[in-house]
Amino acid sequence: MSLKGRDIVWIGDLSEEEILTVLDEAQRMVPIARGEIKSKIMDGRILASLFFEPSTRTRLSFETAMHRLGGDVITIAGQEGSSLIKGETLADTIRMAESYSDIIAIRHPKEGAARLASTFSKKPIINGGDGAGQHPTQTLLDLFTIRNNTGGFEGIQVAIAGDLKYGRTVHSLSLALGRFGAEMTFVAPDRIQMPEYIREELDKMGARYHTRDDVKKVIPDSDVLYMTRIQKERFPEEEEYMKVAGAFKIDAEALEGARKNLIVMHPLPRVDEIHHSVDRTPHAKYFEQAFNGVPVRMALLKLILEVAE
Ligand code: NCD
Repeated sequence: MSLKGRDIVWIGDLSEEEILTVLDEAQRMVPIARGEIKSKIMDGRILASLFFEPSTRTRLSFETAMHRLGGDVITIAGQEGSSLIKGETLADTIRMAESYSDIIAIRHPKEGAARLASTFSKKPIINGGDGAGQHPTQTLLDLFTIRNNTGGFEGIQVAIAGDLKYGRTVHSLSLALGRFGAEMTFVAPDRIQMPEYIREELDKMGARYHTRDDVKKVIPDSDVLYMTRIQKERFPEEEEYMKVAGAFKIDAEALEGARKNLIVMHPLPRVDEIHHSVDRTPHAKYFEQAFNGVPVRMALLKLILEVAE
């Protein structure tokens, strides 16, 4: 098994075995991610980080991962900072980036953009989020966080709540959890429930899932509660957004009947779906989750560029 030179565009690009290899490698990367051990394994390598949509955690953790491994980074943050705004095509931008770098991480507002980029590039492409499509590296760090806290995936109860229609993190996450045998409950108002095409994929793999519309009712039976933001920017009409804005909110009180080991996760940024009172409870894992982006992305860079230690 080798990830050398591979594109990571959809979570389905990785087999179960490959996903577990990334998680194991990420575990070994933690002391380097924390800055406790120095590494130079990426010396002379360049990551092109092309973010045509806002990002805090994904871009910064990709860049931190490369820096902590002794590599270099070139960055585009926002369409304004690049020639896309002058009308340059994605294909030309990618052709430039591949000639300047060894690996490309890309975030783009259009679904399918990362896959398209991978057809123009001989260098590996990692999807950092394509519109309402997928976000596979987020899924890897979500799986890493879940496994470190629950011990595994088989049979665990995962409630996934919020904007399941436009939220790309939950698309990749549910496809991965389904393959690893977790039981999922999709909690959302009807109009932003999990898309049919994802449910069809889950049906094909025989994954177990339910749909609900009240987050408070699912809390007592969950091992993981994965909250998400309503993706305001992806709604075609403001009016549609207003119908679901603030649909789910949890606070410390809502977690009183929860299992002792329940973990609350969120890809962040949060708007109002998790009250700050939750931050002080032992359930809150979203900041640990955000940190985990660094070791997980280090592991990916190492495996894809196949550098020796
Ligand atoms: C998410 C994203 O960009 O899809 N954020 C992230 O990468 N951590 C979630 C979101 O924007 O709501």
